[in-house]
Amino acid sequence: MKEFNVCIVGGGSTYTLGFLKSFVRLREEFPLKKLVLFDIDPERQEPIGKYGEILFSERFPELEFSYTTDINEAYTGMDFVFMQMRAGGLDMRAKDEHIPLSMGMIGQETCGAGGMAYGMRSCVDMIKAVHDIRRLAPAAWILNYSNPAAIVAEALRREFPGDKRLLNICDQPENVVRSCSRLLGCDWEDLDPVYFGLNHYGWFTNMYDMKTGKDLMPEIRRRIKENGFLPQDAEQRDQSWLDTYGMVQTIMNDFPDFLPNTYDQYYLYPEYKASHLNPDYTRADEVKDGREKRVFTECREVIAAGKLGDRFDAISDAHAEMMIKVAESIAFNKNDRHIMIVENNGAIANMQDDAMVEVACELGANGPRPLGVGNIPQFHLGLLVNQVSVEKLLVDAFFEHSYQKALEAFTLSRLVGDAKKARKVLDALIEANQGMWPELTDPKGRARTERVRIGG
Ligand code: NAD
Ligand code: G6P
Ligand code: MN
Repeated sequence: MKEFNVCIVGGGSTYTLGFLKSFVRLREEFPLKKLVLFDIDPERQEPIGKYGEILFSERFPELEFSYTTDINEAYTGMDFVFMQMRAGGLDMRAKDEHIPLSMGMIGQETCGAGGMAYGMRSCVDMIKAVHDIRRLAPAAWILNYSNPAAIVAEALRREFPGDKRLLNICDQPENVVRSCSRLLGCDWEDLDPVYFGLNHYGWFTNMYDMKTGKDLMPEIRRRIKENGFLPQDAEQRDQSWLDTYGMVQTIMNDFPDFLPNTYDQYYLYPEYKASHLNPDYTRADEVKDGREKRVFTECREVIAAGKLGDRFDAISDAHAEMMIKVAESIAFNKNDRHIMIVENNGAIANMQDDAMVEVACELGANGPRPLGVGNIPQFHLGLLVNQVSVEKLLVDAFFEHSYQKALEAFTLSRLVGDAKKARKVLDALIEANQGMWPELTDPKGRARTERVRIGG
């Protein structure tokens, strides 16, 4: 049986431990020959690399495992590259969240003004990395989930047209399906969702029972009304995530037709959300005090003990599992269904062809085959056309170095919603991102940001 070479970009990510364990658990389904972690920050990556050495010596000694900051070692000979970088790190995430919130707007990792700021940074780093990968591993499958995936996917579509092995995917639709399985008391893999939207902005129209074909959406609607909505792994979640899932009940009370992605709440209730988030302790602070601390403490303890022992069984990781199953479906032409970000081309019939949309796809050795959903209702179409325009204008701003286009993108966003507020928050974010955004010039040709090189 073929064995695969895999690189993880962002080896120092808080999600990497979950991948290391999941690669061991799923080794029969997705056989690995070689695994390389790559990161630009050697100090952050080292504890995770050392943890990996201990884990694999106990559980998977045949695996060739290494960690590096050298792109040649990272990419040469790779079959799959998983991309989970955070351009600017958690400190910049904190600013993306804090700055808009301090001005009364949503400050969120991927949505609204903060998400756009992260988008600009991420496009710079992602485009450079994909050029490096394509030079050293021309045929590798690149599975990107670095955020903000909607904006990154649009920029990659333009920079690498026709690259059929460059895929973008997010775990949140599957997380919502898993939550439904908890609600219904069934196995999540027995649920067959129909879904449409953009990344972090979509709806489930139907949730079929895979075995009988029965639509379970009426039952899901009824149970959410009665019992609320919890993540599948609620016991391992911070309070803010429980609050986020809890809002699904509110959304379904107001808009009962479809089951929303949890991220829809930022677009549907921007004022309510902005007034209920704390600008002085945002999700980035919670991650630093929670997941990040847990991951690096676990590394330190395992390194000090020199062994994992029964710690291996403690955590299962749905995110890593899903990404590995995506690779497996491609590697063995399984044509499993995954909800993915793809160029529309009619999948949502009444949306523009060149929008990057999120729909269920059959995924095999020739990439994703989207399952069309036909026309979507005017309400959802209106919301999505607004947001796809925001994303496209921002990516225009990125490639054209246009302050004006950036101002238009920020003005159009429902989470900003006013041209004066847009200019104020954009200028503050430009200031905070000096050296990390591409140069933006105003119509008179004056530079608003320092020059950052785009491309390989
Ligand atoms: P993190 O800050 O813990 O880790 C990110 C790592 O990326 C760091 O070690 C950092 O040094 C590294 N990095 C930064 N720039 C890099 C570059 N140019 N090249 C290589 N490495 C670089 O972040 P995290 O919370 O673990 O999240 C990692 C990423 O995965 C984020 O973009 C996050 O939004 C994304 N993510 C996406 C999904 C999804 O559904 N799409 C799910 C989970 C995580
Ligand atoms: C979900 C989303 C990701 C996002 C993550 C944030 O998994 O799909 O795109 O990055 O949540 O989670 P965090 O715990 O870092 O706030
Ligand atoms: Mn996501």
